[in-house]
Amino acid sequence: MTNEQYYELIRPYEDAMKVLYTRLEILNHSIYSREASSPVHHMQRRIKEKRSMEEKLGRLGTTDSVMNAKDNLMDIAGIRVICYFEDEIYTMIEALKRQEDLILIKEKDYMAKPKESGYRSYHIVFGVPIHALDAMEYYPVEVQFRTLSMDFWSSMEHKICYKKDRTNKEELSKQMQVLSQSLALIEAELKSYIVEE
Ligand code: GTP
Ligand code: MG
Repeated sequence: MTNEQYYELIRPYEDAMKVLYTRLEILNHSIYSREASSPVHHMQRRIKEKRSMEEKLGRLGTTDSVMNAKDNLMDIAGIRVICYFEDEIYTMIEALKRQEDLILIKEKDYMAKPKESGYRSYHIVFGVPIHALDAMEYYPVEVQFRTLSMDFWSSMEHKICYKKDRTNKEELSKQMQVLSQSLALIEAELKSYIVEE
């Protein structure tokens, strides 16, 4: 993939990401006006870098052509939504699923069923319709919903476990799982202090 091809490829993904980002902001505002407290702490978004696309396509065993990228990469456009609590994540996901022009491409609930590592999050990929001059096409956007405590754990785990050549790997990974569970308990306790209006 040339640089020119990369920049041409990502343009509609950027548009799709902006559309979905705005819809998430609107949902946040609309829940805020009803509940008198905001479910979202903050949001981030990013387009996958060329290097990272090439690396992932290599891992998948395909060449880094534009067609292979479009067919195999569901996370070229990515949004991360950091909420305070888990129940608000499910509220937002249900609301997005009711938006009839979005198509559900894939979802994984790592909150209900954490990964072996202890990783918790809700990953969902929506196809977002992008209308060009004479055609409409759906572009996938991956949304990762996490609570503050899940995001804290993932960022730390990434930092700590990034260097693969550690000696105490198994012990460390067991400890990371335990910490993930502890954080879930702390979050549940904090939730119990919230006064509903
Ligand atoms: P990849 O995107 O290639 O990883 O495949 P996938 O889409 O099947 O993977 P998955 O649904 O597991 O989610 C991938 C993304 O979730 C990664 O890019 C990370 O951001 C995050 N993630 C998944 N597992 C872990 C984990 O154990 N630790 C941390 N820190 N992040 C994780
Ligand atoms: Mg992914």
